Amino acid sequence: MTKNYQFPSGFWWGSAASATQTEGSHNGTKGKDIWDHWFETEPNRFFEGVGPYYTSDFYNRFKEDIKNMKATGHNSFRLSIAWARLIPAGTGEVNQEAVDFYNQVINELIANEIEPFVNLYHFDMPMTLQEKGGWENRDVIDAYVAYAQQAFALFGDRVKTWFTFNEPIVPVEAGYLYDMHYPNVVDARRAIQVAYHTMLAHAGAVKAYHQAYDGKIGIILNLTPSYPRSQHPADLKASRIANLFFNRSFLDPAVKGEYPAELIELLKEYGHLPTTLPEDRALLKENTVDLLGVNYYQPRRVKAKDHLPNPHSPFMPSWFFDRYEMPGRNMNPYRGWEIYEKGIYDIMIDLKENYGNIESFISENGMGVQDEQRFIKEGRIEDDYRIEFIKGHLKWLHKAISEGCNAKGYHLWTFMDNWSWMNAYKNRYGFFSVNLETKERTAKKSASWFAETAQKNGFSE
Ligand code: BG6
Repeated sequence: MTKNYQFPSGFWWGSAASATQTEGSHNGTKGKDIWDHWFETEPNRFFEGVGPYYTSDFYNRFKEDIKNMKATGHNSFRLSIAWARLIPAGTGEVNQEAVDFYNQVINELIANEIEPFVNLYHFDMPMTLQEKGGWENRDVIDAYVAYAQQAFALFGDRVKTWFTFNEPIVPVEAGYLYDMHYPNVVDARRAIQVAYHTMLAHAGAVKAYHQAYDGKIGIILNLTPSYPRSQHPADLKASRIANLFFNRSFLDPAVKGEYPAELIELLKEYGHLPTTLPEDRALLKENTVDLLGVNYYQPRRVKAKDHLPNPHSPFMPSWFFDRYEMPGRNMNPYRGWEIYEKGIYDIMIDLKENYGNIESFISENGMGVQDEQRFIKEGRIEDDYRIEFIKGHLKWLHKAISEGCNAKGYHLWTFMDNWSWMNAYKNRYGFFSVNLETKERTAKKSASWFAETAQKNGFSE
C-alpha cells in the first residue's frame, strides 16, 4: 500500500555548506584562519595533501550555484560567514570586499526565493586570535560578540535566521582532545575551558541579537543519541554519561540556560570544573535560543568499560564508557559510519519531552561516499543510496512531526561536493558533483529526486 509522507506547509527544504569548505581561501581578501595556517605548516595532515585553497570556488560561482539550488527545490540554504574574511584581523577593521561578497550572495538567494540561514562560525578561528589563545582566552569571547554584532548590523535587515556556531563540540574534541584539528592539544582541562568559553560567546551573541533585532537566533548541534548495549545499570550509566558529555553539555545551556547538575557534579568530582565568573550564570540563563539546528549523522552506541582506566592516565570522556559495535548494525559501507534512521526520531522526541518542544530543523544529514565516480552512468552519478538514505530519515522525521514534534525542515549536507577539513575530498556528500579542475558542476540523481520532493512537499512510497 502506498503511504504518503506529506510535510507541513512552509517546511524548509534545502542544504547546508560552510565558508571554508566552499569559498576558496585564496579568493578575495581574507585574513588567515587556523585552517590556512595549519595547512601551510602541516600539509601532510590533509587527505592527499589538499588544503582549503582547492574548493568548488563558490566565491566566484555563487550565482550559478544559487540557480542550481533553485532548480533543486531549495527554499532555504545555510551558509556561513568566514570571520577572517569579514574581519581579517579577528577584531577591528571590516573588509569591504567581504561585505560586498556576502551582500551579493544574500541578495541573490533572496531574489531566488531561497531563505538565507546564516551561521557565524564553522570551525574557522582567525589566526590572529588563535595566536592569543583562541577559545582558551576569555578575551576572544568579546571579539566574537563584536564580530557577531557587525554581521547582524550588515546583513540583519535581510537575514532573519541566524546561528552562532556549527557543532561547537567539534573544535573541542578535535582540537583539544584527539589531535584531529589545530591546535592539536590533548588536554581535557583545556578542552572543558574551550567548551565553556564557546558557550559564553554564544550567549553573548544571542543577547546582542535579541536586544536589537526581531528575527530568530539559534545554534547548530551535532546530536548523537546514546544507546546502551543493554539495560544493565552499568551500561545505562555509561550511556547517560556519554549523553551528558556529547549532547547535553551544549544542548542544556543553549536551550535551558544551564548546565546539567550531573555534569557539574562529575566534573567537580574529578577536579575538572572550568574557571568561571559569577556573572556567567545569568548570561547563560537569560540568553537561550529561539531555535535549534540538529546535525544528525550517526548514533553513539556504548557499553560499560571492561577495564578501569589506568589511574595515572589523564582525564578523558572515554574513561566512562566504551564504544559498542552492535552486531548487525547498518553501516554506510563507503564512509564507515552507522546508519540508524530512527535516531532522528529519538532526538526529536527528546527535544519535545525534555526541551520544551523547541523549534528545530535538521540542519545537516547526509551520506558521505568515497570514490563516487564509480556510480556514474551516462555522465551522471546515480546515487540511489543517497536517495534511500534521505528518504529513510525523512520518514522518521515525518513520524516525529505527526506526533507533535516541532521540526520545521530538512537540510542535506551538502549542496555540492566540498573540501572537508582533514578529509579534503575523500567523502562526497553533495547533490552536485564538481570537477575540481574545470569547476564544472553536474547534478547527481539525488538532485532531481529532491527537487521533486520539495516541490510536492513530500513523497509517497
Ligand atoms: C559535519 C560538519 O559534521 O560533517 C561538516 O559540519 C563536514 O563541516 C561533515 O564536512 C562531513 O565530514 P567528513 O569528514 O565525512 O567529510
